[in-house]
Amino acid sequence: MTTHAKNASAEKTDVISLLTDDHKKVKKMFKDFEKMKGSGSDDELSALVEDICSELNLHAEAEEAIFYPAVREEITDTNLVDEAEVEHAELKELVSQLQSMSADDPKYKATVKVLGEYVDHHVKEEEGEIFPRVKKAKMDTEALGEEIANFKQMHGQPAPSARPARPNTGTGARKH
Ligand SMILES: [Fe+2]
Repeated sequence: MTTHAKNASAEKTDVISLLTDDHKKVKKMFKDFEKMKGSGSDDELSALVEDICSELNLHAEAEEAIFYPAVREEITDTNLVDEAEVEHAELKELVSQLQSMSADDPKYKATVKVLGEYVDHHVKEEEGEIFPRVKKAKMDTEALGEEIANFKQMHGQPAPSARPARPNTGTGARKH
C-alpha cells in the first residue's frame, strides 16, 4: 500500500506550490543563461531571454491579478504586499527594457544579470515573508491555485522558442 500518493492532485493546485514551482523554473532559466552566455549565439541567448521575459510577465500578472489582492485581505502586514507590488513594477520595467534590446547590445548580459538579481530578491521576500503568513492565515490556497492556473492558461502563450522563427520586424514600427 502506498501512503505517499494521497492528495497528489490537490497538491498540484495549491497556490504556494504553484508559485514556488514558477520561481524554481525561472531561476533555472537564469542559470541556463549563465551557462550559455559564454558560448551561445545571439539567437540562442535572445530566445532564452524571450522565454524568461514571458515567464516573468505571466507570473507577475497572475500574482497581481489574483494572489496579491487575496493576500491583502487576509494578512495584517499589508506593507508586504505594497512592497511586492512596487518591486513587480521595477521588475516589469527591466523586462520591457530587455525585450527592446538586442543580444549584441553591450549591456544585454548585465541587464539579464540584474533582472536575475531582482528575481532572487522577489523569491526571497515572497517565500520568506508572504507565503508563511498565507499559510498561517489559513486561506483557501487550493481555490487560489486553481484561479492562478486558469489565469495562466488564458493569458499564457506558447514559449517563443517553440514557435516557428519569424522575420525580424526591425524597430517594430507598423503601419495601421
Ligand atoms: Fe512570485
